Amino acid sequence: MALVKIVYASLTGNTEEIADIVAEAFENEGLDVEINECTQVDAEDFLEADICVVGTYTYDEGALPDDIVDFYEDLKELDLTGKLYGVVGSGDTFYEMFCSCVDDFDRVFSQTGATKGAESVKVDLAAEEEDIVRLEAFASELASKITE
Ligand SMILES: Cc1cc2nc3c(=O)[nH]c(=O)nc-3n(C[C@H](O)[C@H](O)[C@H](O)COP(=O)(O)O)c2cc1C
Repeated sequence: MALVKIVYASLTGNTEEIADIVAEAFENEGLDVEINECTQVDAEDFLEADICVVGTYTYDEGALPDDIVDFYEDLKELDLTGKLYGVVGSGDTFYEMFCSCVDDFDRVFSQTGATKGAESVKVDLAAEEEDIVRLEAFASELASKITE
């Protein structure tokens, strides 16, 4: 069965909740899912996955969260050709660089040779009902591409 690996960074819990919603949606699609906080895993672990997902918040004028910097740098070195990827995250529309770290991960994933399986989902703070719908659609689209 296809394996989804979800790695996230979260300081106040919004991105963790988003990652949990995505994980449950993948499980409902019948896929195996592993979900981990970014300091608990290595980027190389994505080599075992069929679908690679990152969830990240954005900090300080668009800065990467400190706790995901190492993971980000290691991801740059990987060859993930043949795998699907997607990125989700939380930010705050108050800031000009809204969810810019989601775009940073999108860029790095594309450099690894992985294929983007669904448009990124950016959530304003905590996920609300309409965000949950978008997150479920994100997982569903990625899952449909693995079973094609
Ligand atoms: C000091 C500070 C700077 C922030 N800078 C940004 C930013 O540049 N862009 C953005 O979209 N969100 C920014 N945020 C908002 C966080 O990304 C947002 O609160 C997010 O939901 C936190 O996710 P978490 O609950 O998973 O930690 C900032 C928050 C703080 C406290």
